[in-house]
Amino acid sequence: MLASSPIIAVGAVLVALSSSVHAAGRVEVEQSQRPTCTVFANGNRTDDVPNILEAFSTCGNGGSVVFPERENFWIAARLNPVVRDVYIEWHGQWTMSDDLTYWRNNSYPIAFQNHAASFILTGDGIYIDGYGTGGIYGNGDAWYNAEKNVTPPGRPMPFVFWNVSNVTVKNFFVKQSPLWSLNIMNGTNMDFDNIYCKRDSDQCALWSELGTEH
Ligand SMILES: *[C@@H]1O[C@H](CO)[C@@H](O)[C@H](O)[C@H]1NC(C)=O
Ligand SMILES: *[C@@H]1O[C@H](CO)[C@@H](O)[C@H](O)[C@H]1NC(C)=O
Ligand SMILES: *[C@@H]1O[C@H](CO)[C@@H](O)[C@H](O)[C@H]1NC(C)=O
Ligand SMILES: *[C@@H]1O[C@H](CO)[C@@H](O)[C@H](O)[C@H]1NC(C)=O
Ligand SMILES: *[C@@H]1O[C@H](CO)[C@@H](O)[C@H](O)[C@H]1NC(C)=O
Repeated sequence: MLASSPIIAVGAVLVALSSSVHAAGRVEVEQSQRPTCTVFANGNRTDDVPNILEAFSTCGNGGSVVFPERENFWIAARLNPVVRDVYIEWHGQWTMSDDLTYWRNNSYPIAFQNHAASFILTGDGIYIDGYGTGGIYGNGDAWYNAEKNVTPPGRPMPFVFWNVSNVTVKNFFVKQSPLWSLNIMNGTNMDFDNIYCKRDSDQCALWSELGTEH
């Protein structure tokens, strides 16, 4: 829980396990004034995106989504949750899959500079804390090795904010991104603090398109 989060446990606390063929991966929902969805990873390179989408759908509008510490989530499909007034307590890690064929065919196209994205967040009132342990591992090595010396368009950016307002991100990492680490398009009132971006080969790549106010 965030120390500052206004979550008050009121009424009955229900714990619902989502139906899932995988024993480990699940979403636990705690119903209160602000619902909290805690996501647990499937492990073994099994796609966690369906559970993550369920958590954003259930708790992404006036609630909290929690990725616990030491949980490692396998991101094998593109996702663009649309959220409002959400706390994302991002202690664990997302690992973008190394299925280059999938990403080349399915990443979200970003018209500006012919880019692509695997994960886009959209909405208003988004508060993300990585607590110094949470973030995204982009699996960029798979791309660097497959595309040595030449970088064709289409490497997906793993952390994109598009049509967003009132966003805070802090204590968060983006490592080994295939290309740019973080991108903002049409963002208003964006606050980033203590973001660690690293690729072995170069500097933190951060840019934001015209139209974004900081
Ligand atoms: C992990 O996945 C592989 C390939 O799908 C499978 O052969 C193996 O049994 C799985 N291991 C566990 C612990 O589920
Ligand atoms: C798209 O996927 C098909 C198979 O579904 C594959 O043959 C093709 O190479 C992929 N395209 C790219 C650009 O990777
Ligand atoms: C976003 O900021 C605007 C202007 O400060 C405010 O009116 C609005 O209520 C905020 N939205 C949320 C979800 O905090
Ligand atoms: C952002 O807004 C523009 C203009 O309304 C729209 O064309 C675009 O699809 C939106 N993108 C996302 C990810 O919501
Ligand atoms: C940004 O928002 C404006 C106004 O809604 C829209 O015209 C423009 O297409 C958007 N740009 C992008 C990149 O979404």
